[in-house]
Amino acid sequence: MPGLVDTHIHAPQYSYAGTGLDMPLLEWLKTYTFPAESCFHDLDLARRVYTQVVRRTLKNGTTTACYFATIHTDASLLLCQITDVFGQRGLVGKVCMDRNDSLPRYSETSQESQAETCRFIEELLNKQYPLVKPVVTPRFALSCTGALLGQLGAIAKKNNLHIQSHISENPEEVKLVKELFPEAESYTDVYHRHNLLTDKTVMAHGCYLTDQELDLFHETGAALSHCPNSNISLRSGVLNVRNVLRHKVKLGLGTDVAGGYSSSMLDTMRRTLDVSKILGTLDPDYHSLTMEEVFRLATLGGSQALSMDQQIGNFEVGKDFDALRVNVKVPDGPVDLFQRDQPKVGDDWNIVEVFVAGRKVVPFSDPSNLAVQS
Ligand code: GUN
Ligand code: FE
Repeated sequence: MPGLVDTHIHAPQYSYAGTGLDMPLLEWLKTYTFPAESCFHDLDLARRVYTQVVRRTLKNGTTTACYFATIHTDASLLLCQITDVFGQRGLVGKVCMDRNDSLPRYSETSQESQAETCRFIEELLNKQYPLVKPVVTPRFALSCTGALLGQLGAIAKKNNLHIQSHISENPEEVKLVKELFPEAESYTDVYHRHNLLTDKTVMAHGCYLTDQELDLFHETGAALSHCPNSNISLRSGVLNVRNVLRHKVKLGLGTDVAGGYSSSMLDTMRRTLDVSKILGTLDPDYHSLTMEEVFRLATLGGSQALSMDQQIGNFEVGKDFDALRVNVKVPDGPVDLFQRDQPKVGDDWNIVEVFVAGRKVVPFSDPSNLAVQS
């Protein structure tokens, strides 16, 4: 089957995945996320965690991952190197935030953020890793001044780069964005007016976007990443996937580790189905997603959301061979991993081999070949 595309994952947050899911987004960021991420100036810690997350996601069948790192440029470059060594296809972003009232020491000045983003991009492009690309990464509107958002929009435009951020995930966040950017017509407009909505943009969540905002996504070609495990775990909200698709907005799926506690896209697929089924029970006119639709979102949908559908997402002639060899047999007898409407049983032990761009990356080769240089 085609490789799975994780359109939204925070690599440093793998260090505490599965813990601390007892509060809503803004409190969670303050209590767990910012303190944890602030330690990633330590390159030994970064090497350890980033090696674990790349290995784990590859074993889970994620052939392409769109990563947030932290504000630390050198550690973000290390994540790029580790992604390259293991052979995963990756988009990697050094996180930008020049506003952080909850943990001021985990933030940058706008000048630092801009300069370090340029250094990150330049150093990464100089490495010439064939499968790893930079993403311009304002954390979200609450973490950035308008000045920084504008600078990042300009950097992305000048270099024709991907952009990633978060949007409209939680009601409190949406309210604060309105207060901080009173001149903007909507949360989406905050990004749009700073040139951050392009056909190479992917925004996570979008639970509370209006129809007009979805129209703006469609017009600009910007994409959404649906992160159902995170939306449930942080009690953020529910994305109406049907409505997103009706507006012809490009859509992929994301684990959103560690708001989402699982790094497996098979879990994300299950949650996508479950949330859609709940919407179906609440509204008889809501047509719940089918397994085939969810499968498409996790593969081709993800490749479209990341503007990589010319290269990956399915087995069309001419595309790169990003693929999983799956074993659909389990000890109790034959069970389809992706049996109609029932992917509940599949796990990483069903994924026997993983290929990225034709290279077998799982099982891992001799670990000594994979030593990541400091
Ligand atoms: N919004 C801003 N930062 C984050 C983050 O790290 N995780 C999630 N889920 N939402 C965010
Ligand atoms: Fe996120």
